[in-house]
This record gives sequence, structure tokens and C-alpha cells, in this order.
Amino acid sequence: MGYRIAVAGATSNVGREILNILAEREFPTDEVVALAGRNSLGTEVSFGERTLKTRNIETFDFSGFDIALFATDAETSRKHAHTAAEQGCVVIDTSEAFRLDPAVPLIVPEVNAEAIANYREKMIIASPDGATAELVVVLKPLHDRARIRRVVVSTYQAVSGVTNAQMDELWNQTKGMYVPGQEVEPKHFPRQIAFNVIPQIGAFMEDGTAAGEWQMVTEVKKILDPAIRISATCVQVPVFVGDAEAVNVEFEDFLDEDEARDILRESPGILVIDKREYGGYITPVESVGDFATFVSRIRQDPTVENGLNLWVVSDNLRKGAALNAVQIAEILGRDELRKG
Ligand SMILES: NC(=O)c1ccc[n+]([C@@H]2O[C@H](COP(=O)([O-])OP(=O)(O)OC[C@H]3O[C@@H](n4cnc5c(N)ncnc54)[C@H](OP(=O)(O)O)[C@@H]3O)[C@@H](O)[C@H]2O)c1
Repeated sequence: MGYRIAVAGATSNVGREILNILAEREFPTDEVVALAGRNSLGTEVSFGERTLKTRNIETFDFSGFDIALFATDAETSRKHAHTAAEQGCVVIDTSEAFRLDPAVPLIVPEVNAEAIANYREKMIIASPDGATAELVVVLKPLHDRARIRRVVVSTYQAVSGVTNAQMDELWNQTKGMYVPGQEVEPKHFPRQIAFNVIPQIGAFMEDGTAAGEWQMVTEVKKILDPAIRISATCVQVPVFVGDAEAVNVEFEDFLDEDEARDILRESPGILVIDKREYGGYITPVESVGDFATFVSRIRQDPTVENGLNLWVVSDNLRKGAALNAVQIAEILGRDELRKG
């Protein structure tokens, strides 16, 4: 016996990846339905060899469904997740809607899978922002060994982390640079994104922090350890898929770079690619379509006590969202719902 699964926001980048990954990882399903809003009702999406026609989330009855994976914007998640939960279906939500709700577990399976068991209060489990997911996967095994005191992270985030409209703007603006008369003014970004980088993800708060930075800091504390001090600068770069992060970590105890490399090599979900030669590291382009979080450029930081520098890369649509959600579903099924 398999699971009855609903994928809400099945037409989004993350929703399509969820369907791909459910099929790739042979998640045991009896039925899979694809849900969408009015804009794309009836659109066909792929699920393995099959094609699913999207159904209307507004009128969908979740009764009898085991798990609903939501890849919708936060407003849509807020509107429909409670309905699914009240109808007895466990929601795994990739939006920001429930991430900081104390009654909703925020999960990255390699870090805090045991907290999935706390889903019962609201029947909702949240998946974090992509930049958070890849960071905590790497910090967790290092924290277990040497206790992290402080992290300084700068992100280089892909435009698929926002919406399709932003991806189109990068594409059209880049083309428009070469075709007189087809120049594209910034509309979905605060500045030109083609051949540029933008130090703002989300609206600014009173203290000058951008919302994306605040979100990352808060999520890392909730998932990993509230005692860790973390400072983030989030930057939008003209890359379609694949987030990168330059990470500086200060530990309580000394951690040698070779030992850190060995620890990371043995840790779940991580691939170390770290050759000290020309091009001996990973870049976002090579991470696309992969399940792993990649770590390169592991080196001692001699300017602080017990410091390390790292370069971390992953596919933001996979580990950053869809894969993480499917991994949560796998554990929820195996340990809690126990079908199949
Ligand atoms: N992309 C990433 O790297 C990443 C990482 C972590 C988390 N996330 C989160 O994952 C979610 C999906 O992201 P995305 O960038 O793939 O999505 P997106 O392009 O913003 O698409 C949103 C989806 O929600 C649907 N939708 C919008 N309004 C709706 C309504 N009123 N009723 C039902 N469905 C509605 C859309 O359907 P229509 O086609 O009908 O408009 C679309 O399928 C977001 O919350 C995002 O924050 C994304």
C-alpha cells in the first residue's frame, strides 16, 4: 500500500521538481494529484512517465490524502494548508508561511529529522529557505565536533529562488543588452540583474537588514542552535539555478582543516570537492540537478581563533526546496504514517 499525495503549486519551479524527485526516488504512491490556482488550471505537468492535469486547489477535497506538498507562495499556503490539515492530510510547506511558527517543526532531515514527530499539533511541517538548508547541512557536523560560536555568511543566490517572472527578467534583460531597442528596465529586481549583482533579497527592515538575511539567521537558529551567532549578507546574482555561499566559521574548539574535510566527507547529503588546483572546486552550474550539497575551498582562517573558511554550493530548487520536502515526506512516511 502506498501513499496518496497532493502537490500544490505543481506548476511552479519547486512543484515540478517535487514531482520529478518523487518519481526519481520511487516514493511509494497509490495516487498523485497536481493542484494549481486559477492561472494554470488544466495545465499538464510530468510525473515520471505520466502526465498529470492540474486540478483546482480551491475546490479540492484533501480527505483521504496522506501528504500534501505545498510549493505555493506564502499567501496561498496560508489560505489552503489549514484546510488540508483539518481534512487529515499532513502538509509539508516550502513557503515562508509557517517556518517561524513555534508549533510547526522546521526541518532539514540531515540536521533535525527527530523534530518531524512534532507535526501533530498543526499537521504542518515547514521546509526552510534554500540558502538556509544548504548552510545547516554543512554546519551541523562541524558544530557537533567543535561547537560553532559565530558564522559570517555571504550568499550568491540564483534568480529561480524568486519566481518565474524574475527568471524571465534576467533572460530578457541579458538578450536586450545586445539588441538595440529591446533593452529591459528593472521591474522585478531593484536594479539591473543582467551582468550585475544586487545586495538585496527582500525588503529592508529598520536596522538595515534585508528580509532574506533576517530569515536566514532566524531559520538557522531554529533548526540548528539558537546559541549560534550569525551574520548574513544575501546577494542576488545573474545565475538561473544554484546557490553559492562563502562561509566563515569560528568554533569554541580548534578544528583542523583536514579533519573538517574528513568530517564533511563522511556526513550525509554532502560531497566534498576540494582540490587545491586551478578549477578544483564546485560552481553553481555543476550543482544543477544534483541532490548533494557541495563543499569546496575548505581552509583555516588564521585571523581569528579557531576559524575556518568554506565555499558551499547546491541546487536551490532541489536541496533548497523540493528535495528537502520529499526527504521530509520519506521520513514522515517511514516513521510516522507507516504505509507502503
Ligand atoms: N525557488 C527556490 O529556490 C525556493 C527555495 C525554497 C523555498 N521556495 C518556496 O517554494 C515556493 C514555490 O516557489 P517557486 O519559486 O517555485 O514558485 P512560484 O513561481 O512563485 O509559483 C507559485 C505557485 O503557486 C501557485 N499559485 C499562485 N497563486 C495561487 C492560488 N491563489 N491558488 C493556488 N495556487 C496558486 C502558482 O500557480 P499558477 O501557475 O496558477 O500561478 C504556482 O504554481 C515559494 O513559497 C518559495 O518561497 C523556493
